[in-house]
Amino acid sequence: MPFQTLYRFFLFHMNIAKIPAIGYNNVRLDINRFGGFTRRPDGYMIEEKLTNPLHLAEDMDDSLRPRTLTEFIGQDKVKENIRVFIEAAKIRKDALDHVLLYGPPGLGKTTLVNIMANELGRNIKVTSAPALEKAGDLVAILTSLEECDVLFIDEIHRMRKVLEEVLYSAMEDFKVDVVIGEGTGARTIRINLPKFTLAGATTRSGSISSPLRSRFGIIERLDFYDPKALMTIIGRSARILNIGVTSEGASEIARRSRGTPRIANRLLRRVSDFALVEKKEGIDGGFAGYALGKLEVDEKGLDSLDRKFLNIIIDHYKGGPVGVAAIAAALNEETETIEDVCEPFLIQIGFVQRTPRGRMASKKAYDHLGAEYKETDPGLFG
Ligand SMILES: Nc1ncnc2c1ncn2[C@@H]1O[C@H](COP(=O)(O)OP(=O)(O)O)[C@@H](O)[C@H]1O
Ligand SMILES: [Mg+2]
Repeated sequence: MPFQTLYRFFLFHMNIAKIPAIGYNNVRLDINRFGGFTRRPDGYMIEEKLTNPLHLAEDMDDSLRPRTLTEFIGQDKVKENIRVFIEAAKIRKDALDHVLLYGPPGLGKTTLVNIMANELGRNIKVTSAPALEKAGDLVAILTSLEECDVLFIDEIHRMRKVLEEVLYSAMEDFKVDVVIGEGTGARTIRINLPKFTLAGATTRSGSISSPLRSRFGIIERLDFYDPKALMTIIGRSARILNIGVTSEGASEIARRSRGTPRIANRLLRRVSDFALVEKKEGIDGGFAGYALGKLEVDEKGLDSLDRKFLNIIIDHYKGGPVGVAAIAAALNEETETIEDVCEPFLIQIGFVQRTPRGRMASKKAYDHLGAEYKETDPGLFG
């Protein structure tokens, strides 16, 4: 067989082998991180865990997503800043500066980026870093942009290094260098891009390299919502979904939503399922409490994973300090899931503290679980 044919044969099989590998990677990524799954139409596997703020099937239903800054509830500081930057870009008739949004999952990063494009009156292209395999994937998207378009890259902290380097010149000089051909015949051509806005979202700002971070002109952090803002969000969602809920009912759900709109919307739907089946007209405080109890969401909004997490620190490690990898291993979860999904809220409510030597449980956490707190524990607070 001539060498050429052999080589083609080899390439052909390489490609075949590659296709399932890509699919497998995408799916595996989520299987590793989550527990029980449903498959979204785009092929992603997603978990149906109640208080996990990562995407759920319900997010496919975009009806609850606010479309304008006015509809976007809470996060007043971020909202006001963004309003000014959008106005300025419109007056200048220029692209909005590159924006990086960070904060725990479910707080409205994707929503806000969509709102920005909408308020700017520009098109938006959406992708996520794990979906970009090769530099060519990114170049293809970049060269398809039009003047002042918004390119949204979700989970931007997972961008591969080679792709990140393509972004540097794209963000700074609105140019990309593309290598055409191979070996001695290879040459580089420079493609000019339209002036565009890169919007990046991430749950872990610490994982973003400083050259990338420094190229964002606008960096905003989303924080957990207070119960009042969550109540307003629940009221709005209830109206859209045509669910009857009293203000006590909304308050009960808000209180147990871990400061997260995505969870608030999800709990509202699940409680309304209970109301439907039990023929309860209108969700009041008592019924919401009852249904949330059935859903094993406790008074603080903690679920079984959170309680297990705390129990491991308290029972196995006498309150800590213990490394997060050890806790994740004991829970049979990915470290990243623990860090992104469980911890931020537990830290926010003062149940867990991150120390250089590891995680520690506070007296509050002991009290919540009904465990006996001993002063001899190397607790930093009590
Ligand atoms: N400020 C807000 N006001 C009303 N609803 C919100 C707000 N922020 C988020 N939501 C709701 O929560 C859901 C999750 O928000 P999303 O933008 O997908 O979060 P993230 O991208 O940060 O994970 C959205 O579908 C939207 O319905
Ligand atoms: Mg998102």
